[in-house]
Amino acid sequence: MTQDDLKKAVAQAAFKRIEPHLHEDSVIGVGTGSTANVFIEYLAEAKHLVTSTVASSEETARRLKEHGIPVYDLNSVDEVTVYIDGADEANEYLQLIKGGGAALTREKIIAAVAKEFICIADESKFVTVLGNFPLPVEVIPMARSHVGRQIVKLGGDPVYREGVLTDNGNVIIDIYNMSITDPRKLENDLNQIVGVVTNGLFAQRPADILLLGKADGVVEITSS
Ligand code: A5P
Repeated sequence: MTQDDLKKAVAQAAFKRIEPHLHEDSVIGVGTGSTANVFIEYLAEAKHLVTSTVASSEETARRLKEHGIPVYDLNSVDEVTVYIDGADEANEYLQLIKGGGAALTREKIIAAVAKEFICIADESKFVTVLGNFPLPVEVIPMARSHVGRQIVKLGGDPVYREGVLTDNGNVIIDIYNMSITDPRKLENDLNQIVGVVTNGLFAQRPADILLLGKADGVVEITSS
């Protein structure tokens, strides 16, 4: 099985899980990235049933609209029934690293609002300790050097992601070489640095369900 097959399998499993909600006028939160894109394809097949979505990036909004699926501003919906998104890394507590596609802030906002957050990923994303994947941090442009220096004090190696501007007009610093043994604390510490918009650790608000694509099928891991 290729990685693409695994992405398809988890996207399909996520679609099956949310399908009953489609008959209840629910708002579906849709994430960003290649796995979320496969999920969008399943959603498009049932678009006559999809009345409302919110998107975690301009790119996702564009894809949804291209299929004729209604996309709403988060401020104009009362709640998000369920949010489906991928991850760059996930641990057994369903804490995640996200933001490889630079959409972390909008992703975190939708995750905060969502009643249920279902993360979809192939098994290569499942790790014992988070941090092998460089941790993205969204930063106000004028604070870039300041934030970089503070990250060094926390023990990480900051690397400016050249040529990338987020949907919010900010820059991304990726933190390399950090073994993240206390994700909740690091998420908090990074957010205390002046100039940080948010960081890609989803530990305070982890996923509720992780659908992990393995060669022998999709495994469902729930937070205990
Ligand atoms: C986007 O900013 C990210 O958080 C994505 O959810 C993450 O990078 C997963 O992307 P893939 O599904 O492409 O691996």
